[in-house]
Amino acid sequence: MPEDPEESRGPTETRDALAERRGQNAPVYEPAEDSSLLAEAAVEHARGVTLEVGTGSGWVAQRVRAEGDATRVIGSDVNPHAVRRARDRGVEAVRADLLAPFRDGALDTVLFNPPYLPTDPDNEWDDWQEVALSGGETGRELIEPFLDDLPRALAPDGVALLLVSSLTGFAEVVEYAVDRGLRAETVAEESYPFETLSILALRHRAPDN
Ligand SMILES: C[S@@+](CC[C@H](N)C(=O)[O-])C[C@H]1O[C@@H](n2cnc3c(N)ncnc32)[C@H](O)[C@@H]1O
Repeated sequence: MPEDPEESRGPTETRDALAERRGQNAPVYEPAEDSSLLAEAAVEHARGVTLEVGTGSGWVAQRVRAEGDATRVIGSDVNPHAVRRARDRGVEAVRADLLAPFRDGALDTVLFNPPYLPTDPDNEWDDWQEVALSGGETGRELIEPFLDDLPRALAPDGVALLLVSSLTGFAEVVEYAVDRGLRAETVAEESYPFETLSILALRHRAPDN
């Protein structure tokens, strides 16, 4: 029987290695080291209604549902192939652009392993793998609109776990989040030869007295 590539490979590749897959036209991002780091933090921190933005294969959402304390886990993705794949895994999944369809204050936990590789616009591939990988010229072209809308959709005592790579600019992401009224704390970190991956926990900042 042919092996399921997702089963056989598992989350063992860094995003750098996955970047070599550009143009191979795999329709859905396969779980990698970044997925694994996010899943471990999410199992520990997710509570209540939990949304995984950009769920891809649904592997992270499925782990959180199986191993964590969330009361409901939803996956969303802009890629319809990903939505189908996540549903095939039994994940409740919807097609959505970032947080757009979710009501104000509705989400207790938000998870996001974003597309973050800095990419020269002249070298962008026009396929779903690129949508999963490319963060535009700065690497932050999806992270910034996500952070713009996060304070609206996050419940008052909610938490968002955002995966950030050193390739994307860790300090820049933290500064952008703080400017939007959030406080940031690193809850997990892993270093690889070409990048360090961190999980930032983002919460509403209490108003100054
Ligand atoms: C790096 S992959 C992560 C997949 C999965 N969460 C994981 O950790 O294995 C990023 C995902 O974000 C999705 N994505 C890209 N732009 C998006 C957007 N505007 N709204 C929602 N999802 C988006 C991609 O389709 C892709 O599935």
